[in-house]
Amino acid sequence: MRVNGTPWRTIWPVDGVRAVDIIDQTALPHAFSVRRLHSVEDAAQAIRSMQVRGAPLIGVTAAHGLALALASRADDDTLLAAARLLAATRPTAVNLHWALARMQSRLLPLPPATRIDAAWAEAATIADEDVDQCRRIGIHGLQLLLAGRRGEGRLEIMTHCNAGWLATVDHGTALAPVYAAFDAGIDIHVWVSETRPRNQGLLTAWELRQHGVPHTVVADNAAGLLLARGGIDAVLVGADRIAANGDVANKIGTCLKALAARAAGVPFIVAAPRSTIDFACANGAAIPIEERAGDELRLLHGCDSAGVAGELRQLPATAAVANPAFDITPASLVDHIVSERGCCTADRLQSLHPEAADG
Ligand code: MRU
Repeated sequence: MRVNGTPWRTIWPVDGVRAVDIIDQTALPHAFSVRRLHSVEDAAQAIRSMQVRGAPLIGVTAAHGLALALASRADDDTLLAAARLLAATRPTAVNLHWALARMQSRLLPLPPATRIDAAWAEAATIADEDVDQCRRIGIHGLQLLLAGRRGEGRLEIMTHCNAGWLATVDHGTALAPVYAAFDAGIDIHVWVSETRPRNQGLLTAWELRQHGVPHTVVADNAAGLLLARGGIDAVLVGADRIAANGDVANKIGTCLKALAARAAGVPFIVAAPRSTIDFACANGAAIPIEERAGDELRLLHGCDSAGVAGELRQLPATAAVANPAFDITPASLVDHIVSERGCCTADRLQSLHPEAADG
């Protein structure tokens, strides 16, 4: 996707050096900055601090982190220790574990001397596949949106968190159909919820603005009213992990939108690649929910009137807070799941991915 007219990915290897560059998402939407990762520790810190975030991008970053880990030694111990470090960064997005497992099964059978080149090649393949999968999600998701729209007027979509290109390598998951619609000349508008406390909705607004897609930011609490008023064609969100029964873990607040959508008769659609589906996880109760630092609630981040970034305290340091980062939307509230393979109802995931269900 483009930033000020120039195409970017969220992560890319640096030419001629064993290093990876990322867009630092903690600086957005106020500043656009690139950070260089030189080591597996850098990669782990970037994931933990959410400089990179979003389930698919976390997986791709972890794959590159393993490649970085092998720079000085490529033996089994180094590889396994790096995988353990990266696996401990964030618990909910299963793409992290999927990418680490794929890298290890590719690298462990190889003699150590050949592992470094193989690791960089596999990480690049995972990144390229993510781009292609998201592009396909865009095509399938757009067909679904057009089939279910209320009329011939403007297509009105509500989303939550950021499941755009910033959360993947390119295109996004939930926003891929939005970009596909906009690029096809379809009149489309997106309702973007802030997504307290990390405000990933502001990332969504930033990337929609960069692409020229009409959108409106609303407080999370406005979603119920907007849905009840009847002007929205679909709620479209991403996922961090989808259990075998179709239960969906996604950013905290997603389940409230699904409930409001069901009450208003608005389709609730989840878009995610195969790497987000965890067939080993029977249902949502088995998905680990990340509990993040309380200061994400106690402090507000932004810019002052001179544009200088800073923080404001809204609660004392000792205030008791809870900060669960994800919730579970039961499969019964999910009308459609869209992957790179096509669309299905939440109880028919195996129909899209029969080979994985068998294994
Ligand atoms: O905590 P984050 O910002 O990593 O959470 C991201 C989300 O919950 C997204 O909605 C999800 O990963 C889908 S991203 C394509």
